Amino acid sequence: MAEKNAKIDTADLRQAGRHRIVAILLGPPGSGKGTQARELVETFEVPHISTGDILRSNVAQGSELGEQARSYMESGELVPDGLIVDIIADRIGEPDATAGFLLDGFPRTIAQAVALEEMLHRRELALDAVVLIDVEDDELLRRITGRWLCRECGRDYNAAQSGSVPEQCPACGGEIYQREDDREETVRNRLEVYRAQTAPLVEYYGGKGLLVKIDGHGEPEEVSRRMIAVLEKI
Ligand code: AP5
Repeated sequence: MAEKNAKIDTADLRQAGRHRIVAILLGPPGSGKGTQARELVETFEVPHISTGDILRSNVAQGSELGEQARSYMESGELVPDGLIVDIIADRIGEPDATAGFLLDGFPRTIAQAVALEEMLHRRELALDAVVLIDVEDDELLRRITGRWLCRECGRDYNAAQSGSVPEQCPACGGEIYQREDDREETVRNRLEVYRAQTAPLVEYYGGKGLLVKIDGHGEPEEVSRRMIAVLEKI
């Protein structure tokens, strides 16, 4: 499969305006994948595709997919590969994704990575980079357990950064809540699941020469600058 993937010349496609960037943001829970992806979409003009966001929206709507995923998510386990691969296959087939995208939270297993290669090949796209965001465990726990969100507008109020959490969303008045899987015990399980099932992707993509590691500590803007500097060279 890697051989098939290598036959696609992204430089030619880029010149023809058919390829902007296809990148994966990889890293443990709380490393800042979502935060960084939201910054990078403006620079690279490609959509941000987050499997976690798609799943949470399905859970909130009570769809069949949401019902199938809910218990895995609440306990910090991975949702089965088959469900996730179908979600991504549908999403990258949408018109806004024809010239590339930033993947956040996918792939999370080797089986998902192999399925992604097949999907990209079918669409004449190739993976440009896998950016590993490196953050210490203590900081991950501090960020995630401090995260509170607005149920209406989705704004993120992090007590680890601001020192307190508003009672209502200052922007829209919505209810402030904590993600079910952001409680400390579940976060510890998510970190273990990451180490057991997702961390092997570091070696997998390292072996393909696609992995770039960046320091995820510091202000989000500082991390974005590091990330853009790396991705613009690709
Ligand atoms: P998902 O939503 O993908 O959770 P995650 O990877 O655990 O991601 P997080 O959102 O917690 O972390 P992040 O790295 O995006 O950090 P963020 O920018 O949000 O998945 C949830 C669940 O869905 C999984 O457990 C699983 O059940 C299921 N699932 C999803 N994808 C799947 C897949 N492919 N296969 C199987 N199952 C799947 O930042 C975190 C906090 O830190 C925020 O409050 C933010 O403001 C703050 N922060 C960010 N950057 C900084 C910084 N530089 N300094 C200080 N604070 C910062």
